[in-house]
Amino acid sequence: MPAPAEFLQYVDDNANVFIDRLRTAVSYRSVSGDLKRREDVKEMGEWLNKKLNEVGVTNTKLVDLGYQTKDGKKLDVKLPPVVLGRIGEDPKKTTVLVYGHYDVQPADKKDGWTTEDPFKLEVLADGRMVGRGSTDDKGPVLGWINVLQYHHEKKKVLPVNLRFCFEGMEESGSEGLDALIIKESKPGGWFYGTNCVCIVCISPVYPRHTSANQFAAFQFQSDNYWLNKDQPAVTYGVRGLSYFYVTITGPKKDLHSGIFGRTVHEPMTDLFALFSKLVSTDGTILIPGIEQMVPSPTPQERALYERLHYSMKDLEESVGASIAIVENTADTLMHRMRYPSLSIHGIQGAFSDDGPKSVIPGQIIGKFSIRLVPPMTAKKVEAQVELFLQTEFAKLKSKNTIKIDHMEGANPWLANYDHWNFRAAKIATQAVYKKDPDFTREGGSIPVTLTFQDALNVNVLLLPMGRGDDGAHAQNEKLDRGNFINGTKLLGSYLYEVATIDKKQRAQCK
Ligand code: BES
Ligand code: MN
Ligand code: MN
Repeated sequence: MPAPAEFLQYVDDNANVFIDRLRTAVSYRSVSGDLKRREDVKEMGEWLNKKLNEVGVTNTKLVDLGYQTKDGKKLDVKLPPVVLGRIGEDPKKTTVLVYGHYDVQPADKKDGWTTEDPFKLEVLADGRMVGRGSTDDKGPVLGWINVLQYHHEKKKVLPVNLRFCFEGMEESGSEGLDALIIKESKPGGWFYGTNCVCIVCISPVYPRHTSANQFAAFQFQSDNYWLNKDQPAVTYGVRGLSYFYVTITGPKKDLHSGIFGRTVHEPMTDLFALFSKLVSTDGTILIPGIEQMVPSPTPQERALYERLHYSMKDLEESVGASIAIVENTADTLMHRMRYPSLSIHGIQGAFSDDGPKSVIPGQIIGKFSIRLVPPMTAKKVEAQVELFLQTEFAKLKSKNTIKIDHMEGANPWLANYDHWNFRAAKIATQAVYKKDPDFTREGGSIPVTLTFQDALNVNVLLLPMGRGDDGAHAQNEKLDRGNFINGTKLLGSYLYEVATIDKKQRAQCK
C-alpha cells in the first residue's frame, strides 16, 4: 500500500523545517575518532534522543557501553551512548528495526573545504547541502525523524512497529555494539520480535550522467539547473574490513640524517620495503592467499553488474580525474563490490607537514586496510597478513623492531534479495522515483550489518538516501536537497509497503 498522499505533501511542505534540523545535527562535531571530541559525540546522542521523544518515540534509552579500549587496555574515555527507541507494540504488525549512526569522520576547513566551516551546513543554490555528516549518516538518520514527525503531528498511527538503534562509534569500528545487539535480540530484549532490519545509508544512488530527466521533482533553483543525475538503488551487500597498524621502531628518538644516514637501519626505509609488497599498482593484492580466498564470478554473476546503471563518466566525475584502473563499468563495479581491495592510508610520525625536515623518524606507524568479501573473514585475513608481514620483515634483515596491531575487524555481509523486505523497498522506490532501483552491493563497511542478520535471523537491507558523488568522508561532503526530501518520502513509503506485503507475497519469496 502506498504511503498516504498527505504524507508526501507534508514532506514537501516541511522541507525547510527538516533542513533546519539537519543544520543543527551537522553543528555537533561528533567525530568518534577524535578523543577530544567525545563530549560532542555524547551531546549529539542526547540531542538525537530528545528529537525522537519530540516526534512521539517516548520509549527510548541511552545505553552506556562503558569505556573505550585500545590494544586490550581500558582507556579513560567513555564510549558514546547508543540511542535505542521503540514505538508500536502491536503483535499483528510487522516490526522493523532501523539502524543508523550519528558520529562522523573528522573534518577541517584547512583540508580544502570551500564552505565557511565543515560543521556549518550550507545550502547552495543548486540544492547541494554541504557539511560533515550531511550524507554519512546524519541526513539519512534524520529522514526517520521527519517520517515520525508527520505521524506524530497529524496523529497518524504508524503502519509498523519500529525499533531504533543509533550508535555513535560506527566510524571507529562500532566498539561494543555487537554485544549489545546480541543481548537485545534475545527474548525480553529491546529488539526481540523484529521481523526485518533497514539500515539507512549513503551512496548507491548513482550519480547518472544523462542529460534528459523527466522528473520535475528534481528541479531545484535558481538558474533552472536540472539535477539530472539519479539512479536509485537498494543494497544487499557490504564489504568487511580488516585494518592494520604496522609500527616500526629503531632509534630511541629522531636522528639527524646527515650524521646517522647510512649508519643505522631506518624505520621508514623498512616500512617502504614492506608496504611495496602489499598491493600492485593495478590493485591486485600481493599478500599470498588473499585473492585466492574469493571465487571468480560466473557469467551470470557478471551479467548482474553489466545491468547496473553506471558509466565510466560517473566514476570520473565522482573522483574528479580520469584514473580508472579498468575501462569498463562491469569490472569497475565488481572491483568496488565483489572483490577485495587493499588501500594504504597513511604514515604517522612521518613529518609530512614540516617542509624539508632532514631527520630520520625514530618510530613510524604505517596504516593500511583490506576490504573483505564473502567467504573471507576478518579473522582469517588477520592471521594471513600478520604472518606475511613478519616473514617479509625477517627477510629485510633489519635490526629495527616491528609491531602489528589491528582494529576490531568487520566481516562482509550479503543478503538474499529475493525477500519481501527487498520487494517492499523496490515498490517504495518505484513510487517515489518512478524507476526500478538497481540492486547493488556496496564497497564500504558497516560492521554491525552481519551481526543484526545473524542475531535476529532476519533479512537486512540498506536503503540509500544519498548519491555516489556525495563525497562521504571527504572535503565538501554534501547531500542534495532533493535526495533528503525524496529520501524521506522513500523511508516513509517503505514502511507502508513493508506493512502491507501480505502472507501470500511473503511466501513467494525465499
Ligand atoms: N556508511 C559508511 C559505509 C558505506 C560506505 C556503506 C559506502 C555503503 C556505501 C560507513 O559510515 C563507513 O564509512 N564505514 C567505515 C567502517 C569502518 C570505519 C569500520 C568504512 O567503510 O570505512
Ligand atoms: Mn555511514
Ligand atoms: Mn562513514
